[in-house]
Amino acid sequence: MRAREEFSRYASQYGTHNVIQTKVAQRLVANTPDKPRRILDLGCGNGTLFSSIDWELESFVGVDFSAAMLEHHPISSQTELILGDFNDQKLFAQLVAFSFDRLYSASALQWADDLDGVFKSIYALNTPVSFAIFTSGTFKTLYETAGLSSILKSSDEVIGSANHHFDAQFEIVRYILEFDTVREMFRYIKRSGVSGGRRVLNFTQTKRLMESYPLNYLEFEVLFITTL
Ligand SMILES: C[S@@+](CC[C@H](N)C(=O)[O-])C[C@H]1O[C@@H](n2cnc3c(N)ncnc32)[C@H](O)[C@@H]1O
Repeated sequence: MRAREEFSRYASQYGTHNVIQTKVAQRLVANTPDKPRRILDLGCGNGTLFSSIDWELESFVGVDFSAAMLEHHPISSQTELILGDFNDQKLFAQLVAFSFDRLYSASALQWADDLDGVFKSIYALNTPVSFAIFTSGTFKTLYETAGLSSILKSSDEVIGSANHHFDAQFEIVRYILEFDTVREMFRYIKRSGVSGGRRVLNFTQTKRLMESYPLNYLEFEVLFITTL
C-alpha cells in the first residue's frame, strides 16, 4: 500500500514538516464544543492532536496504519495506540468495545479509499465527531500549472457525503505556506504527508513544473466538520 509506505518512510521527519497539519490539529481541538475525556483519534500519526489537548483525559485511543508514525506518538498511562486501518471494517468491529466522548481525525481522512463508507462506520460508533479533511483547493495553483486535476475530493463532495451521516457544522479554512526556494517547496510536499505518497509526475514533468510554478507559497484548503 503506497500511502502507508510513504508515511512510514518519512515518519521520523514528519514532526519538522507538518507545519500546516499542526495548525489544523490545534484549530480542531480549540473548536471542540466540549472537553471530551475519552477520545478516539483516527490517523493519529505522531500525536499532533494528542499534544494539542490541554485538558485532563481519562483515555486516548490513537489509531494509525503506519507503525513508524505510531513510534513517534507520546505515550502515557491514558494512551492506547492501535495499529489499524480505517478502510478496514475489522478496525471498527474492534472499536465498538470502547466508549468515547468524541472521535477526532486530523489531516487523515482525505486518504480514505471510500470516504462515505468510513463515515458510515464512524456513525455506527454513535460518538460526536471533529474532523479536519484536506480538500481539492489544496495545491490549487500547483495542479493548475501542471495541467492536472486534484487527487483530493472537493469540499462540496465531502460536505455532501458527511450530510448523509452527520448533523454537522462545516467550516472551510485556507492556509498558505511560504518558501524561500521552489526546491524547498517540493521537498516539503514529499515529506509532509500531504501528497499521501501519490506520485503523479515523472522527473522531467516535475522539473518543468518547478520552473513554471508562479507562486512562492503553497495553498491548502481544509474542511472542518464538527457535530455537537
Ligand atoms: C498527514 S498525517 C496526520 C497525522 C496527525 N493526525 C496530525 O494531525 O499530524 C496522516 C496520518 O494518517 C495516517 N493514515 C492514512 N491513511 C490511513 C488509514 N487508512 N488508516 C489509518 N491511518 C491512516 C498516516 O499513516 C498518517 O500518520
